[in-house]
Amino acid sequence: MVYQWYPGHMTKARRMMEENSKLIDLIIELTDARAPGCSRNPDIDTLGKGKLRLVILNKADLADEKVNAQWLSYFEEKGIKAVTVNAKEGQGVKKIQSAIRDVCKEKTERDRKRGIIGRPVRAMVCGIPNVGKSTLINAIVGKGAAKTGNKPGVTKGKQWIRLNKDLELLDTPGILWPKFEDQEVGMKLAMLGSMNDEVLQLEELALDLLTFLVREYPENLTARYETLTGEALEQEPVKLLEAIGRARGCLKKGNEIDYEKTANLLLDEFRGGKLGRISLERP
Ligand code: G4P
Repeated sequence: MVYQWYPGHMTKARRMMEENSKLIDLIIELTDARAPGCSRNPDIDTLGKGKLRLVILNKADLADEKVNAQWLSYFEEKGIKAVTVNAKEGQGVKKIQSAIRDVCKEKTERDRKRGIIGRPVRAMVCGIPNVGKSTLINAIVGKGAAKTGNKPGVTKGKQWIRLNKDLELLDTPGILWPKFEDQEVGMKLAMLGSMNDEVLQLEELALDLLTFLVREYPENLTARYETLTGEALEQEPVKLLEAIGRARGCLKKGNEIDYEKTANLLLDEFRGGKLGRISLERP
């Protein structure tokens, strides 16, 4: 699997993160609810050392509800507050504000005892590419938040969005890199469309996805591709791909299956939620 992250990109992202970390109290870590473990940055604990933390399981609308609940419990057990969100539709965005209040309670109380009152908590949205950072920030801004101008004493060019009197959000997200070494992680991120398709073997990826779906979500396959039912699901993945291709008319000259076109169709349908709500990773 080839990744689009080069050492130069990583160094830049890390430097940005270190610079912005000095300005914020809270890291809002965005993950893809369909694979929250795989879509986290491997160094987030180090990068976010000493900061308050909130995890967002975004695209929750595309993930398996039961698995979403498992992930929420998982993070809760680790002492990390997490919430599920559908940033595209704006669902759960209000929940974020009350979750932030929860996470910041102790700090606000400590500040109050020290006579620091009315200083807003500063937060920043971070995550690997494609988890929905910009969509979330837009959803938050759309909810009537006001943008504040550059502040004296704060690094030039930084814009803060004032969510309420207690909370300000940096308007640009922190872009983090994913785990590279792990093939399994790479594969799941590729299935989610979080990697550049141009560098991927789409047919191989589609076969891996089919293998996973037959094992974990056979009923979703049947619901979408009617011929894939009962014993038909026991065929080799390449036969399943052929069946999908034939059913959908993904054919080349001479009625041969166009595997690439079929792979694209399957991946598109999965990524767009047309196969139903599917999670690729459980805690
Ligand atoms: P990024 O800044 O982290 O890189 O991600 P971005 O907001 O650009 O979102 C990446 C894609 O994920 C976008 O789709 C966006 O619409 C979609 N998305 C973000 N949040 C959610 C969510 O909660 N649910 C669903 N279903 N989708 C979400 P796109 O295809 O690139 O763009 P568009 O065609 O939707 O405009």
